[in-house]
Amino acid sequence: MPPTAADLYLDLLKKVLTGTLAGREPDVDDPAYVEGFLAHYIRGHALTMTPLVRLDNARHCVEQALAHGVPGDLLEAGVWRGGMTIFLRAILAAHRVTDRRVWVADSFEGLPAPDAKKFPLEARAHASRTMAEDFQHFAVSEADVRASFAAFGLLDDQVRFLVGWFKDTLPAAPIDRLAVLRLDGDYYESTMDTLTALYDKVSPGGFVIIDDYGERLWTYCRRAVDDFRRARSITAELIKVDTKCYFWQKPA
Ligand SMILES: C[S@@+](CC[C@H](N)C(=O)[O-])C[C@H]1O[C@@H](n2cnc3c(N)ncnc32)[C@H](O)[C@@H]1O
Repeated sequence: MPPTAADLYLDLLKKVLTGTLAGREPDVDDPAYVEGFLAHYIRGHALTMTPLVRLDNARHCVEQALAHGVPGDLLEAGVWRGGMTIFLRAILAAHRVTDRRVWVADSFEGLPAPDAKKFPLEARAHASRTMAEDFQHFAVSEADVRASFAAFGLLDDQVRFLVGWFKDTLPAAPIDRLAVLRLDGDYYESTMDTLTALYDKVSPGGFVIIDDYGERLWTYCRRAVDDFRRARSITAELIKVDTKCYFWQKPA
């Protein structure tokens, strides 16, 4: 089957958002990943720090939800420069979907400082020179993210911003249902706060994507997910996207 216009648009957009039209993305499994990450994402112009394969996974989840009529909006908790959420909005546009929204949730001030007693690994990473000075705790302003949406012609009523810490914004967010919930807040509490506030809004048949489930060097994201799944007796299979990112489908 030749690619459709939607395929061609989303494929090109994916390359633009990841900065891979001209350059190659760093390999998440390369021991020198941090240097590559700094050069490609932090000092570069990519609008998402997620690798191509994770954009493919997001597209797969959204298109499955559309194909099977799984009701609800799309939400990413932790957006940095907004590229993944721009991609989510573009998928809706490519399929001419006008009755679903994309929620863009972030402090727009970067990662919160973890409690050093409860989360020593995260606290050490948070205080490191690389995180504080080079990554600036991943702080990107709401204005910059809005400007990037607008640059692609995708800033409209179907895009909603939730500005602030997840624990404050997500429980009261005026969201009825979610078809895709994407978590990329890195830390234990950011992950737990998101799951606690939003998991029950994920429709049966909907998807939960955990960007950092496989990251053990500097976050307790996996522990938060495992704790939540155990507490809620969730046994749906965790499916690997790459060594860091996993997702599951809520049973229908
Ligand atoms: C790794 S970045 C997200 C990368 C992004 N998904 C992308 O496509 O490039 C983590 C983001 O989570 C946000 N964040 C983490 N914990 C948060 C919290 N508890 N409340 C609000 N924002 C949070 C940070 O501000 C940062 O923008």
